[in-house]
Amino acid sequence: MTISPINWSEEFSVGIKSIDNQHKKLVAIIKTLHDAIADGEASEILGKIFDELLDYSRHHFSYEEELFKWYGYPDAEHHKKEHVELANHLARLRRKMEEGDNFMGEVLLLKFLQDWLLNHIMKSDKQYAPFLIEKGAK
Ligand code: FEO
Repeated sequence: MTISPINWSEEFSVGIKSIDNQHKKLVAIIKTLHDAIADGEASEILGKIFDELLDYSRHHFSYEEELFKWYGYPDAEHHKKEHVELANHLARLRRKMEEGDNFMGEVLLLKFLQDWLLNHIMKSDKQYAPFLIEKGAK
């Protein structure tokens, strides 16, 4: 199975530059997994990619949540729940990979990450965007 990489496109923009830049970075990390699979090198660097993704997604989620608090976004709790679920899911997959315990494999992981990120940006992140933009987030 081959999967096309996601590349940043303006249709993913939430209209808030700081957040778009962080999303671009997440897209870039996931793309490194795609490229490593294409080069047959995924197994060597998968742990490193996982760690980078875990670290950067934590940073990004905290940033969004700080904006929610600062501007009083009313649906923050629901959105934060999605962040917690993804962070927990990633950490679980990381453990499974390390323990060699029924890990889904690199290609399915790539598909899961691409689908999750795009869905989350296009549905959930785009929901808060008009509220935060109106309050002045940049
Ligand atoms: Fe951009 Fe809610 O993550």
